Amino acid sequence: MHVALDGVGHRFGRSGDWLFRSLTFAFRPGEVYALTGPSGSGKSTLLSLLAGRNRPVEGAIHLTGIDRVSWVFQNPFGSPRRTALDHVALPILARGESAPAAEEQAHEFLARFELESVAHRPFGDLSGGESQRLMLARGLASRPSLLLIDEPTAQLDRRTAERVDAAIAAVADPSTIVVVATHDARTRDACTGLLDLGALGGSGAG
Ligand SMILES: Nc1ncnc2c1ncn2[C@@H]1O[C@H](COP(=O)(O)OP(=O)(O)OP(=O)(O)O)[C@@H](O)[C@H]1O
Ligand SMILES: [Mg+2]
Repeated sequence: MHVALDGVGHRFGRSGDWLFRSLTFAFRPGEVYALTGPSGSGKSTLLSLLAGRNRPVEGAIHLTGIDRVSWVFQNPFGSPRRTALDHVALPILARGESAPAAEEQAHEFLARFELESVAHRPFGDLSGGESQRLMLARGLASRPSLLLIDEPTAQLDRRTAERVDAAIAAVADPSTIVVVATHDARTRDACTGLLDLGALGGSGAG
């Protein structure tokens, strides 16, 4: 299983500036890749190309053995009255597991992200950092082969962000390729691989 960028370039419109060009890179399971670069360098755009939402203007993206893609967005989004446990159990139930098995696995995911103590708390009562960690747990619970995470710490204060950064390491999974778009040097340092759009010399004006 792998994801490869082969000479990928993208811009919006025929005369727009290139966000990036000649991007060649291989993503492998078990790793957590930081996707970095200044605001507007195309991080979110590259995530949506990886998800197959858009096609790159140049080059190709090869997805080999990727059956499920899951997203974690910048703003945690949940059902205010449902518990943390419910949020993680739902994608496991959706995979066809029985209710007791889903609950047991959900507890394991919550423990992995240090959320056991809030398992039975409604989503609406969770702190920002807890909600964001819950989104990571839920993202993994659907067993994606590709997990795309966009700016997980952008809305958080420094201390809360540090707990989310610590959780980024827990997202690593032998059967999942994880890509995390981030501005944050500490989030980047919590990752095991790096693709820096800023190091490409900015937009290679077309
Ligand atoms: N659908 C679109 N149509 C036209 N331009 C777009 C579209 N989506 C993004 N852009 C532009 O492409 C550039 C890259 O946007 P993108 O959101 O990928 O950057 P980013 O690196 O994720 O930035 P940030 O760090 O602020 O999230 C921006 O200038 C943005 O305005
Ligand atoms: Mg973005």
